[in-house]
Amino acid sequence: MTRTSIAPIKAAITAVGSYVPEEVLTNQDLEQMVDTNDEWIQTRTGIRERRIAKSPSHATGYMATMAALNLCEKNNIDPKSIDLVLVATITPDYQVSSTAPYVASQIGATSAFAYDLSAACSGFLYGISTAAAYISSGQYQRVLLIGADKMSSIVDYSDRTTCIIFGDGAGAVLFEASKNAYGFESAVHGSNGIGRDYLNIHDGGSLHPVNENTFKEKNHLVRQEGRTVFKYAVKHMSEASNKVLEKHALTHEDINYMIAHQANKRILDATAQQLGIANEKVLTNIERYGNTTAATLPLLLSDYETEFKKGDKLLFTAFGGGFTWGAAYLTWNYDIKN
Ligand code: UT7
Repeated sequence: MTRTSIAPIKAAITAVGSYVPEEVLTNQDLEQMVDTNDEWIQTRTGIRERRIAKSPSHATGYMATMAALNLCEKNNIDPKSIDLVLVATITPDYQVSSTAPYVASQIGATSAFAYDLSAACSGFLYGISTAAAYISSGQYQRVLLIGADKMSSIVDYSDRTTCIIFGDGAGAVLFEASKNAYGFESAVHGSNGIGRDYLNIHDGGSLHPVNENTFKEKNHLVRQEGRTVFKYAVKHMSEASNKVLEKHALTHEDINYMIAHQANKRILDATAQQLGIANEKVLTNIERYGNTTAATLPLLLSDYETEFKKGDKLLFTAFGGGFTWGAAYLTWNYDIKN
């Protein structure tokens, strides 16, 4: 009896799209709102400005739709050919229902099913593994993964420790079976429930439902203990990245680009330093967008898509509320189509 082995299906990113709101909130604007200054924000976080979706109707679902349409139009993708739409977000349009089905309907992905994925700043990274698993198993052929957050809807603009960091935006990628040797290689994920004491929205969930004090105490808005989050972020992003590199017998020199969550430029620098990754390989958009939570990684892909060459080795890493974290290794699948 002869045995034929079937090569596993490798999932690859085959298209990228993005959307950021037009409205810009600069450090100088924030100086008028809270006791802060441009110099502090730039030196402590690396952020100069961020985008804010001012129109009430431009919520997460709208931004995710715009990013998905941008992807489809740029790459001539028929939305009807998409099997699954995943939206990573912590700012859904509604607490109930899921935002992804709305996005799928808006873009005309009439054959797709859709759901949200909630892992805060790690949401898109976890979505990479989820999308890749669906493709590799042969279950679905086209998975649209979107990271989108309207952070301005949950930020307290009187709290200088959070309002300077966050911004709004959305990015989208399409996963399909790779037609060459390149694509998703593997990922390492972790989580620790201790994190919910250090980064949360206190009220509005099942543990602390909205009550008569919620709005008075601003407990419907995001709070974090920045210093603690900072330390956990550097530790876990560098440890997870090292594990992925070890798995593939890679060193920092083999990596072409590090695509890391953009919460604070000093977190990026410290993580890259621990990994020995050279500064010029660390992609950033934090100076223009701030921390866009689940949108950060796909926005980086969109911003730097023209730089990537087929076969480039990309190291993704993220850390977020929960705590949640991880790292993923992908080889880039295409040269830009002009
Ligand atoms: O996306 C995933 C989740 N989030 C993160 O990963 C964020 C991680 N944390 C951070 O990025 C940083 O901790 C922050 C940017 C939030 C804060 O920066 P820091 O360097 O850790 O500042 P700090 O909290 O240690 O505060 C240092 C000083 C304090 O003053 P004193 O006590 O030394 O007099 C703060 O009151 O800076 C003061 N401060 C500010 N000053 C001007 C805090 N925020 C501001 C501000 N402007 N916006």
